[in-house]
Amino acid sequence: MRNRRVLQSGKIDFFKAIACTVLFAAGAVAARAQTADQAWLHQPSHAVFFGRVTALGSGPIEQSAAQELTRSLSRGNVTGPPPTGGRHLTDRTIVGTAQEVRKAYPDVPVPVDLEPEGYWIYWNRSYESSLLVIAGGDERGALYGVFALLHLPYTAEMGKLKIEYPLRGRPAMPIRWTDEWDNANGTIERGYGGPSIFFEGGKVRDDLSAVGEYARLLASVGINGCNVNNVNGASLFLTSDWIRGLARIADAMRPWGVRLAISVDIASPQKIGGLKTFDPLDPAVQAWWTAKVDEIYAQIPDLAGFTVKADSEGQAGPASYGRSPADAANLLAHALAPHGAVVLYRAFVYNNHLDSNDLKADRARAAYDIFHPLDGKFAANVIVQIKYGPIDFQAREPVSPLFAGLEKTNSAMELQITQEYTGQQRHLVYLAPLWKQMLDFDLHAENRSTPVKEIIAGKSFKRPLGGMIGVSCVGRDGWLGSPLAMANLYAFGRLAWDPNLPAEQIAEEWTRQTIGVDEQVVATVTKMLMQSWPAYEHYTGPLGTQTLTDITGSHYGPNIESSERNGWGQWHRDDAKGIGMDRSVATGTGFAGQYPPEAAKMYESPATTPDNLLLFFHHVPYTWKLHSGETVIQYFYDSHYQGADEAAQLVAEWKTLKAMVDPGLYDDELARLEFQAGHAIVWRDAIVQYFLKESGIPDAKGRAGHYPGRLEAEDSRLSGYKVIDVTPWEDASGGKAVTCDAGSAPKGCSAEWTYTGNAGRFDIAVQYFDLQGGVAHFALNVNGKAIATWAADAKLPSRRPNGDNSTRFTARGLEGRGIQLKPGDVLRVDGAPDASDPAALDYIEIVPAASSR
Ligand code: GCU
Repeated sequence: MRNRRVLQSGKIDFFKAIACTVLFAAGAVAARAQTADQAWLHQPSHAVFFGRVTALGSGPIEQSAAQELTRSLSRGNVTGPPPTGGRHLTDRTIVGTAQEVRKAYPDVPVPVDLEPEGYWIYWNRSYESSLLVIAGGDERGALYGVFALLHLPYTAEMGKLKIEYPLRGRPAMPIRWTDEWDNANGTIERGYGGPSIFFEGGKVRDDLSAVGEYARLLASVGINGCNVNNVNGASLFLTSDWIRGLARIADAMRPWGVRLAISVDIASPQKIGGLKTFDPLDPAVQAWWTAKVDEIYAQIPDLAGFTVKADSEGQAGPASYGRSPADAANLLAHALAPHGAVVLYRAFVYNNHLDSNDLKADRARAAYDIFHPLDGKFAANVIVQIKYGPIDFQAREPVSPLFAGLEKTNSAMELQITQEYTGQQRHLVYLAPLWKQMLDFDLHAENRSTPVKEIIAGKSFKRPLGGMIGVSCVGRDGWLGSPLAMANLYAFGRLAWDPNLPAEQIAEEWTRQTIGVDEQVVATVTKMLMQSWPAYEHYTGPLGTQTLTDITGSHYGPNIESSERNGWGQWHRDDAKGIGMDRSVATGTGFAGQYPPEAAKMYESPATTPDNLLLFFHHVPYTWKLHSGETVIQYFYDSHYQGADEAAQLVAEWKTLKAMVDPGLYDDELARLEFQAGHAIVWRDAIVQYFLKESGIPDAKGRAGHYPGRLEAEDSRLSGYKVIDVTPWEDASGGKAVTCDAGSAPKGCSAEWTYTGNAGRFDIAVQYFDLQGGVAHFALNVNGKAIATWAADAKLPSRRPNGDNSTRFTARGLEGRGIQLKPGDVLRVDGAPDASDPAALDYIEIVPAASSR
């Protein structure tokens, strides 16, 4: 009774105290180095002191949990008062499973229904001392409780302090994994953050300390599994040497409750097992898998399971024997079941040799066509892993209808944290709003409410398993290679834990923990994050055309026709009159009919299809009027200009934070955003000039095809430079550029123009191609005087000049005041090629100085 009385008056105060204390100290720490290496975990530990911390159990996860609370103490503050800003919040803290807490402290009212992975946090003050209890439904739950407490000031609705007491949480879905696409040689498929933290030179790395740190990062947002090897070419990883190495990775992740999973090649019995077949129904194949799985579990007793890519993009599969994905999945599931493990069988199965002349052929149909008829045929420990859209991680797609097409099968949603089709971490694109649209979409299966987030959580169809998989592809260069891209990794974990969280709230939380707690910083960075995906969609492929990128190569720069006339099926079918794929049931591929009735009806007609997916579902003339009243073609022009302006706006917004964020981070991000703003112009101009030519319909606002202040390299007085046709033509202004051949012009080349405009102060942009394989150097001169010099040293895709590497450098004069020009001035760009980088040049553009605009 005595305790309860004190508790009632003190409970909220305790959580208020923790919130305010940590926030105060986080601000102080935020001013220090912002290393992406520690991402959002680098701050709070110095601030709060949890008294004597005890883990009730001896398991590694509880030890990690306790360590997380005492981290700052172990760094040297073991005795004496807490450092400035720090504060003792309780005399004692205990961390343990519900069972352990009940046994050690029978008076503590641990809820009887605390679920595995769930946590409960309780504070009790008697007159003598105070006790903080962090109880988990299991060890992992205790760890999540610790992180929830440490993150409380950032995750609670600040200002309103909506904190429930006792604090309780549980994940929405059981499967919360990242997939890494790491290859044995240490490269990473679609990775943009440096080489592998797991593998190097054909084996598991000796130093796995980064793996432990990664697992800690994952655990801090509730991720409980990590599949470490590429879904392509996986057979090697099942050899005995590899299994020993993989066991070391599992050891490194285990203390953080992150279970190892591996991608397997269904043809392994044949490829590495010496069998003549890998037919899933062959008893020898079944015996091979059982023995292999036993070998694995002898060394990795808690392996979470296997991921499988089969019959897809060149990977072998059960179709070779006329067997189904269910046959293949169940084969593995059967071997794994005794170990309590699961099979994530990917629904990314399609024919990449489709006939593009066949107007009924449609890659988008594939997953549903193949997997829906198998509903109910998968073993209980199989989860069908479905990409969010029916194509392939595009910037905009409708949600996959397969989520509603599997009612008797577990399913999980696969998304990409790595920005393969969304700017490859060179562009700021915060993806949580995209994922939220997918998660929140109500498919209305069985004519009742069935939002995707509830389907994959197992709620809608009462499935025991399900979840979210984020293809992460982290590497050794600050995890994702770009500090602000880390918001995507964070957001993935948060949404897998609670898909109801708003994207904006997650952005705020992440900013507070990573960049700083000042309200202007939080508001500005959150705004930038929230603007970034719409901006990217605007300057790449709006109205459901997908990104219009080079789909047969880099997946990065613009290349509109790369989607057409090949078997890959990412067609948008543009011609002189119109654009879009007819996927209606009445006249098209019938894809729209794969949705439950309500969505099928909406997508069947262009009149009811939302504008942002119009061209995904329908082929319409360029003059088609959108719901907004604009024509399709005018929207194309407008959205691309708008998107490029929005990208420029991100630079301006970031600049307002100059004095408020870490200087290293400020400079680094500024350079990235300026690069992005330049590349957004490349995108804008490529798409706009392509569709201007294709449709023959001018831009009502007079912008497309008219570039005031632009002086083409091919029209200049050239010395050494040769004019070339750029492929695809839309990637260069006017389709042409100039290149310098080091062999014939060893001293370099130059392009020269005489300025004929008005006198004034100007910014001068130079559009050049930064090719791989060398570092070309450039100089911009006015009347023979060097105004700026720079090196083409970025790492961009492609060895040919095109939209992957078209780059903008802008000279703004001293202190950004612009460069003084008058008629008759001679402007010259010197280009010095290096190795296979020919210092290629597209144009220069003279615009009134930003300072005078
Ligand atoms: C995309 C990606 C491939 C990847 C594939 C997959 O197509 O470009 O690199 O292998 O997805 O998800 O399996």
